[in-house]
Amino acid sequence: MFNKQKLKGKVVAITGAARGIGLATAEAMIAQGAQVSIGDIDLELAEKEAQRIGAKAFKLDVRNRESFAQFIQETIDHFGSLYSLVNNAGIMPMGAFLDEDPALADAQIDINFRGVIYGMQLALPHLIQAKTGHIVNIASFAGRFALPGSAVYSGTKFAVVGLTEAVAGEYRNSGIEFTAIMPSKVLTELTSGTDNASKIIPSVTPQQVANAVVNALIKPRLFIAVPDYLQMLHGIYGTLPQWVQKGTRRVLGDDGILTKLDHSAHAGYANRIDQLKK
Ligand SMILES: NC(=O)c1ccc[n+]([C@@H]2O[C@H](COP(=O)([O-])OP(=O)(O)OC[C@H]3O[C@@H](n4cnc5c(N)ncnc54)[C@H](O)[C@@H]3O)[C@@H](O)[C@H]2O)c1
Repeated sequence: MFNKQKLKGKVVAITGAARGIGLATAEAMIAQGAQVSIGDIDLELAEKEAQRIGAKAFKLDVRNRESFAQFIQETIDHFGSLYSLVNNAGIMPMGAFLDEDPALADAQIDINFRGVIYGMQLALPHLIQAKTGHIVNIASFAGRFALPGSAVYSGTKFAVVGLTEAVAGEYRNSGIEFTAIMPSKVLTELTSGTDNASKIIPSVTPQQVANAVVNALIKPRLFIAVPDYLQMLHGIYGTLPQWVQKGTRRVLGDDGILTKLDHSAHAGYANRIDQLKK
């Protein structure tokens, strides 16, 4: 499926890669011969996993522009010219919009959206200088199809999809590629406790998303849904009259997060992201 040579020796920096989708992506890149740096706020875990998979770990808080600049510079100092930045770090609180702690809403805006802006602004000048490279933003299918029970999250992911498309338009003649990856439910700690709450969308593994990212670098596309067919389903959904869309959502039970989330199974993740409030 993959052109083994294309990523050989290429330097790829991945944010939020101590676990989950970011870590799977780091492993998939290394399997293609890439040199991978992983930046995470959880340095201890990032270092442990980096050692296991043959990557290099650095401390990174994507909310902080200086921290992000240092991560990019450390990656270049360690490996050489940057080829790709994968903006993956993100958090997804679940619950009713009016119940959400304002500090957690801010954390989503800062990590899921502001962090991606910082990353793109800091990495792009290096890629422009090299006249080649690829920015990949891990958005979400919730950035196409907003989910009740994750309103602010959906908003940040719509923002990432829009940001990616607009910047890609500005640099369409630069030789630099841009991709927004839009996974449905991925089986990481983030979705713990959602077995009964998210029957509306299919589940995929972190490795499937990682393969989509590798594939994007080898054969660039602006938007990639995982699984791929969701893109087409969404296209059809978009042609339906709004009353049919509304009825479809109701029948499919798109409010499952609000009504069926298993809070005790989700508590570990909820506690972890609660630490990210300022
Ligand atoms: N899991 C899903 O169902 C799913 C679906 C679609 C999109 N996504 C997106 O994929 C990305 C990764 O999700 P995941 O499921 O692997 O989550 P995860 O919680 O397993 O991993 C996220 C990583 O990001 C790190 N992180 C958090 N805040 C950070 C910060 N400020 N700076 C640096 N690192 C930080 C965490 O320490 C963690 O290691 C997120 O952007 C998420 O929104 C996930």
